[in-house]
Order: sequence, then C-alpha cells, then structure tokens
Amino acid sequence: MILALETSCDETSAAVVHEGRILSNVVASQIRLHAEYGGVVPELATREHLRNLIPVARRAMDEAGIGPANLDALAATRGPGLPAALRAGFTAAQGLALSLGRPLFGIHHHEAHLYSPWIEGQPLVAQFDRFEPNLSLIVSGGHTLLVQVTAPLEHRVLGGTLDDAAGECFDKAAKLLGLAYPGGPQIDRLAAEGDPVAFEFPRPLVSDPNHDFSFSGLKTSIRYFLQKHPGLADDPQRLRDLCASIQAAVVDVLVTKTVRAARNLGVGCVTASGGVTLNSGLRRDLAARCERHRLRLRISAPSLCTDNAAMVGVLAELHQVQGRSPTPSDAEVAPGWALAEDVSP
Ligand code: KG4
Ligand code: ZN
Repeated sequence: MILALETSCDETSAAVVHEGRILSNVVASQIRLHAEYGGVVPELATREHLRNLIPVARRAMDEAGIGPANLDALAATRGPGLPAALRAGFTAAQGLALSLGRPLFGIHHHEAHLYSPWIEGQPLVAQFDRFEPNLSLIVSGGHTLLVQVTAPLEHRVLGGTLDDAAGECFDKAAKLLGLAYPGGPQIDRLAAEGDPVAFEFPRPLVSDPNHDFSFSGLKTSIRYFLQKHPGLADDPQRLRDLCASIQAAVVDVLVTKTVRAARNLGVGCVTASGGVTLNSGLRRDLAARCERHRLRLRISAPSLCTDNAAMVGVLAELHQVQGRSPTPSDAEVAPGWALAEDVSP
C-alpha cells in the first residue's frame, strides 16, 4: 500500500496505490489561482501546496479506506519541478515515512508520465504485464520529450525541445489571441469549429530527421502575423480559424516526428502522456497516423494526462517490484533532474 504525493508544479495531488490498482487519486488544481497572472507564480504555488497537502492526503486515504498505519511505503516527486513546490510535497512525505518507519521512493516526474499510458481500465490498473517496447512522446506545459522505452524502467531520451514546450506554445499563442490561461484547452475548444488550413503557420524542425523540437519560432510567427493583421482575432470565426491553424501546426510537428521516430527505430508501439495529450486534435491525428503505419497506440487515460499522484505511486511500485530500494539520493529533491540521468535501477 503506497501513498504518493505530487507537487512539482501547480497541482497538489495524493493517491493510494495497491498492487497496481489506483484506490484513490485526489487532485487539487491551482489553475484558477494562477489564471489572473497568466502563468504559474512559484511562491503562490508553494503556499497553496502547503495549505492543501494534508487535506488532500487525508482524503486520498479516506477514499481508499485506509489510514497511515496501513501504508507500506511512501512516494513523492523529487523533480524536475519548481524547487519550493517540490520541497513542500517531498518534505511532507519524508516526515510521514520517518514517523511510520516506512521507505520513501523519490520519483522522477517525467518517468511517472512515461509509464502512465500503461495504466488503464475502470478501476484504473497498471498493465505492465502487457508491456511492449515503445516510442514515447511526453508532452506538457514544461516538457516535450521523445523517449525510447525498451523494457519497464529501461529507457533513453532521444530528443526534446530546444526552447518552449508544446504546452507552453499553446499557452503563449492563446495569450496573444487574448484567451485565458491555461490556453491549451481554450485553443482546443475553439479549434473544433475552425478551419485548420485557413492560415499557414510554420512547422519548426518537422522535416529534420533528428528528434528535437522547437516551438518558440512558431510563437514568434504568430505574434508577427497578429501584428500584421490587427483586429483579426476579434472576429469570432477568424479566431476559431486561427486556433485550428495553430493547433494543426503544433500537432503536425508532434505527430510527424513521433511516428517517424517509431518507424525508424522499428518499434511497433507508440505511447503518449502529459497534459497536451488531452488535446483532441493530437489524440485524433496520432491515432490516425499510427493506424496508417500499423503502430499500436497507448495514450494516458484523460484523468492521468495532467499532473497527478497516481502515476507517481504506480511508478514507485514498479521500482519496488523491480527490486529497487530507496538510496540516500531518494532523500533530496532534484529540481533540475534530467530524465536521461540515473533513472534505471
Ligand atoms: O502535464 P501538465 O498538467 O503540467 C505540466 O507538467 O506542465 O500540462 C499542462 C499543459 C498546459 O500547457 C496546458 O495548456 C496543456 O497542458 N493542455 C492542453 C490541453 N489541455 C491541457 N493543450 C492543448 N489542448 C488541450 N486540450
Ligand atoms: Zn507533468
């Protein structure tokens, strides 16, 4: 029985996981708090985590029908993330682990996203017995990564973004269009009734055979385009067309590079996780292109796309099952921890 905590950015989350089964997954989102600033304010995020942590953890245990005495282990996100926000959750988990005399697993946030597509069903259960080697796209507000996963806990990063993450690009484009934060879901909603070929935006690095991404040029070209056409985004239908065209550019780059990498590497399976995988255009196009190339596709369940503690607990259990015990380095937060470093047992 594992209690997991996740506080790397702007969600305070606690979950109870038992033998691969998610017994509870409570998420207190701070989106409304940060919306008026147009982005996450680290100091506010930390204060909110401190306020919410104990009630959220208590609720996770109540929903699972357990108390602290039933816990066999603790898990918490060590990094990467906002330093003080990470410390809020990690220190709480450390305190609990110490008082209960239980081990604490320090978990890599991206690694937790990486394995979340293997959790499925209702109730949500980890399906690592069905694991197959895959090419994985992790795409959210803070990260855009292509990772080759050869076996559970054996993976290598092939490439990532050189500047903005895809979610950041959605959010910044939305801000230029005058939409509320976070902009990704707003663009997705408006794009549904827009024309994706109404405007042509660049698809950075799409033809480049490497595994890197770059989205800041796209954002800049949107800014110049809007400066050249003042008032365009005030027309409701043109706004929808702009959203659809921007979304099409981002999705095209993500899908083309992911599918090409999978085919070049000869893997039969593609997985995708992170907040941006909630995007309906991405889900649709990735599914269509994977089907065309006979690639099996696993995308995280919608409730596990954005940051949550369930994926942290499931990964901690996977580490435990694979025989990894916490080491002294599990006892510190690691805000700048890169996925390539030291994640295999
Ligand atoms: O994984 P996540 O919750 O947090 C990070 O670790 O960053 O991802 C949040 C990101 C935000 O940039 C948000 O705009 C984006 O995911 N996002 C979306 C959609 N839903 C969330 N982007 C595009 N379309 C969506 N439907
Ligand atoms: Zn994340």
